[in-house]
Amino acid sequence: MGSPVIAILGTGSYAPEKILTNDDLSKIVDTSDEWIFSRSGIRERRIAGENETTSQMAASAARAALADAGLTAADIDLIIVATMTPDLPMPATACFVQSHLGVPTHAACFDLNAACSGFLYALDTAWAMLGSGRYRHALVIGAEKMSSVLDWTDRTTCVLFGDGAGAVVLGPARGTAQMIGVKLYAEGAHAGLLCIPNGGSNPPVPANGTVLAPRAITMKGREIFKIAIREMEDAARDILEQHQVSAAQINCVIPHQANLRIIEVIAQYLELPMESFFVNLDRYGNTSAASIPLALDEARRSGRVKPGDTTLFVAFGAGLTYGSALVRW
Ligand code: UT7
Repeated sequence: MGSPVIAILGTGSYAPEKILTNDDLSKIVDTSDEWIFSRSGIRERRIAGENETTSQMAASAARAALADAGLTAADIDLIIVATMTPDLPMPATACFVQSHLGVPTHAACFDLNAACSGFLYALDTAWAMLGSGRYRHALVIGAEKMSSVLDWTDRTTCVLFGDGAGAVVLGPARGTAQMIGVKLYAEGAHAGLLCIPNGGSNPPVPANGTVLAPRAITMKGREIFKIAIREMEDAARDILEQHQVSAAQINCVIPHQANLRIIEVIAQYLELPMESFFVNLDRYGNTSAASIPLALDEARRSGRVKPGDTTLFVAFGAGLTYGSALVRW
């Protein structure tokens, strides 16, 4: 018996209520709506409540995805949460999600950190596990509380990110929908360009009472910008070539929502009109691992992704990780 054909059976998303506009930010740091919008395409982002956790946002997105798939928590035997902002360093946020949803104890639950490419890494991992025939239905979730790892005095980073979650249910294909391919990459030599330099085991917490700065993202934006374009173009071309799909056959490209200028250059390099790209970063900013599944859910619910379509996902993020995926609906 061959591997089961696996497809995305449902999608869901969640965005916190609180909206933080560029004008709001200009009251906190030395910036302006004009600068943020012209350099990034972002107008506003959502910010989670102080006590709202990544796992709660993930569970809300997952509930919507389960409803969309016509399944319940009892059907799930695998949960993977892609996040770099877990509720706690341990245990895994996926275990909290399991508990919020009432997913049975025979489910495997774990987190995966590939930063903004995390959703594609989690999708490939779940696909492989389901393809083995040993798991049947997976929740693959990207969820981030980026507001918890931002330095709100650093205008070069705090204006770019937002909070939210997106989820898909992966399972045995119904009809013609199916996963076609995923390609994942990493360039660890560039790890220092985008990182949270403390809060892990290196460097160790000083024993002499020195107080470490709060955990916060540091980024060499200009360098990342150039590498991201090269990586995303390569990842998109590789997967199209591998599966002998032309760019023109893609009905919708759902890119990682980091910067509109990056997306415009990718469109130009792939010789695709901007209309082929689904963009919602103007309203959410960069939600890291949540970015693609949040955009995907909006694209499906707005009719931008329809049954029979072929969709290309393409992402890059800290690591530097990057990747692409082709999905038929
Ligand atoms: O998921 C991966 C996440 N990472 C990324 O997506 C990063 C990719 N990079 C980018 O998106 C862009 O590089 C940024 C949006 C971060 C920055 O745009 P840029 O056109 O590369 O600007 P820059 O960093 O070259 O900065 C230009 C100027 C600088 O001033 P000087 O040195 O020219 O006087 C900055 O200090 O803009 C200044 N600046 C700001 N001004 C107003 C930087 N941040 C701000 C700000 N408001 N928020």
